Amino acid sequence: MSTNSQRSGGEPAAQFTWAGMYARNAAEPKGLGQGKRGRYDFAVAYPDPGSLPLAGLLDGLKQAMDDEGGDLSLYANPQGYTPLREFVAAKLQRDRAINVTADDIILADGSSQPIHMVAETLLDPGDVVLTEDFVYAGTLNTLRRFNADLRGVATDEEGMIPAAIEEAIRTASAEGKRPKMIYTVPTFQNPQGWTMTLARRKALVALSQQYDVPILEDDCYVDLRYEGTDIPSLHSLDETGRVLYVASFSKIIAPGMRLGYLTGPRPFLERAIGAKSGGSVNTFASWAVHRFSTTHLYSHIEEINDIQQDRRDAILDALDENFSGSGATWSRPEGGLFIWLQLPEHVDLVAVRDDILEEYDVGYLPGPNFAPDGVSGANCARLCFGYNQPEEIKEGIRRLASAFRAKGLIT
Ligand SMILES: Cc1ncc(COP(=O)(O)O)c(C=O)c1O
Repeated sequence: MSTNSQRSGGEPAAQFTWAGMYARNAAEPKGLGQGKRGRYDFAVAYPDPGSLPLAGLLDGLKQAMDDEGGDLSLYANPQGYTPLREFVAAKLQRDRAINVTADDIILADGSSQPIHMVAETLLDPGDVVLTEDFVYAGTLNTLRRFNADLRGVATDEEGMIPAAIEEAIRTASAEGKRPKMIYTVPTFQNPQGWTMTLARRKALVALSQQYDVPILEDDCYVDLRYEGTDIPSLHSLDETGRVLYVASFSKIIAPGMRLGYLTGPRPFLERAIGAKSGGSVNTFASWAVHRFSTTHLYSHIEEINDIQQDRRDAILDALDENFSGSGATWSRPEGGLFIWLQLPEHVDLVAVRDDILEEYDVGYLPGPNFAPDGVSGANCARLCFGYNQPEEIKEGIRRLASAFRAKGLIT
């Protein structure tokens, strides 16, 4: 009797060698599984497990199973579960003045998948993409998979600087490479924490129109506002079809639901849907999110914002207490989950990261993770305040300051 590992002649087959089989554009190897996490974990944007609406999601799911459980035998609409798209369209109209219907929405696996679809739909190797000088690493990695020529644009606490955007467009155009898009996280920016002002948004849209460079607006933190007033979406400021918009349920319900969405002009969506892998979107998750959202989403957002505001206040207090006069500066976000900590130029926070995790149990992500060139910003770190309790946040920041002092990085 032959086994899988034997040739028909009875000789055992050699182990297969994958090296040499990979596509030219295959991803570089990456460790499997998740790395070590600190007890004081400022590294990753997790919500507090205690704030997840588990009972509400379960009730919603049960109700949907009773109502339409038999539909699980179907492959759902390629754009995703229609009632959830209707909810998203109503939410976008209500909250972001984006006038769309369910037909203008594609639901997908978080907002990561729509970003991937946009990249696949627009980018040829070498195409220029402009983005913020430090921006969400997941998108940078996706854009790199399509061999984009990534160029960071200078920002300040009001967002991307219009003169710098214009200069970057002109420089690229002079090289014969009109940028394919501008990717921005304008609200509670990841990792820098600022929110682009209305004047800057208008200037960005005007530049997009003047130079014919579309915008990809990533608005996944917009609901997490703890103070101040909402600022109109870029999409609502443009009536010419140049702005694509993605957002997600990850930050307002849970990343584990893997549900997000894309909207844009229909001709674009008709191309982008072809870049969506995996058939429709998980109906099970869509049911839970839909039933929960139509009844409880807005009150849930208020609850989580109270929790997150306490954490934001705790981290700002702790930074004031432990870092004042040290040569460090940090952002003061009105919402979202991130603080951007900047140390003096010569400091290297990449070199000490693993030691600090090991010795002090504190995690952070250094600046180069968020840099379009992959190397700038070694003196910066992103601190997420979503996961730990306020008292733990204070202890974590106290430890971080001790670690930096012990290593001679701050005074
Ligand atoms: C700015 C930004 N965009 C997109 C995402 C992707 O999240 P998801 O795919 O869970 O929606 C994240 C996740 O942290 C993010 O910070």
